Amino acid sequence: MDAITTPDSTKVISTGTDPDTGYDSFRLGNFEFTRDEYFAHIKWPKGSHIIEVDRFLRAMVRDIGWGFFYGWIFFDDIFGTTNHYGTVDMFAGSYDRGYKDQGLDYLETFDAQVISEAFETISRNWINEGYDPLSAPLETGTPIGPKTVERTDELVRGFRPAERMLGLEGDAPVRSDATGHPINRAFADMEFDTPDIECEPGFEGQLHAINLFDHIARADVTWNPSFTAITGASICCVTSEEHMLPVIHGNDRNEWFIQLTDEIHWNIADKATGAPRGRIVMKAGDVCAMPADIRHQGFSPKRSMLMVMENGTPGLEKRYESGELKPYPVDFG
Ligand SMILES: [Fe+2]
Repeated sequence: MDAITTPDSTKVISTGTDPDTGYDSFRLGNFEFTRDEYFAHIKWPKGSHIIEVDRFLRAMVRDIGWGFFYGWIFFDDIFGTTNHYGTVDMFAGSYDRGYKDQGLDYLETFDAQVISEAFETISRNWINEGYDPLSAPLETGTPIGPKTVERTDELVRGFRPAERMLGLEGDAPVRSDATGHPINRAFADMEFDTPDIECEPGFEGQLHAINLFDHIARADVTWNPSFTAITGASICCVTSEEHMLPVIHGNDRNEWFIQLTDEIHWNIADKATGAPRGRIVMKAGDVCAMPADIRHQGFSPKRSMLMVMENGTPGLEKRYESGELKPYPVDFG
């Protein structure tokens, strides 16, 4: 396998504009990216690949927004990134048995900021007004066709820290009902009772509680954290999910899922080879731990709510990789 570490000074460059479609082509290290009306094309020294442009952009913008997340982000079975928390691999075929057997796989390591800027540059050039890859397909326009007008608003929703417990005076920038987001059509049948709060005298204005479902139901993005609570290295994200997770996530640690409403179907495969390992249908109330040695992709036929728990302890990925920790969290029996 070719594996190259590219100098930090490397930047993405535009290599020209297609006169027919209006989109630019780009080079980052030894990877080349072009798009036509339907597809993204990726080339590397010994191979090439094609991905439907909607899938490519939905994956790329999430990879930026998630900061490359934990472990592997497969845009599909062939192309993706691996996060080493400071550097990031860009790979093609490196975790596909066929590409490996034929020696067509390729991997290049970049400074994380370099890939992030490259993905932002490519996405900006390839995304037109009216298309938001973070929205559910039924709630946004299409990315296919020639270039029209580039979007100028932010591609990823930045994280905004809560200044106080949500619901208390002064929290306004982050509470989603205060931002004017409506309840999503998929959750219109839910009841959003507010909690009863009985406060001891003297603590008025310091104690509060919210209906978390009311918050998630107003999320305008899918497969992207709409609300995150971080305590030390314990990270809890709630998200709304609809259609398919636009990437296949390869875990470098355990990841816990709690299905809050409706259902998600998960395809689970071996991380290194892609060989199928199982399917799970999670229904409201189900809990599962995705092991550290798998890749997985979720499909949510109707918009659903999912709580995801991550252990952000630095270096945990190395303890799983070395075999010091088992790839699953619990031994039964
Ligand atoms: Fe995952």
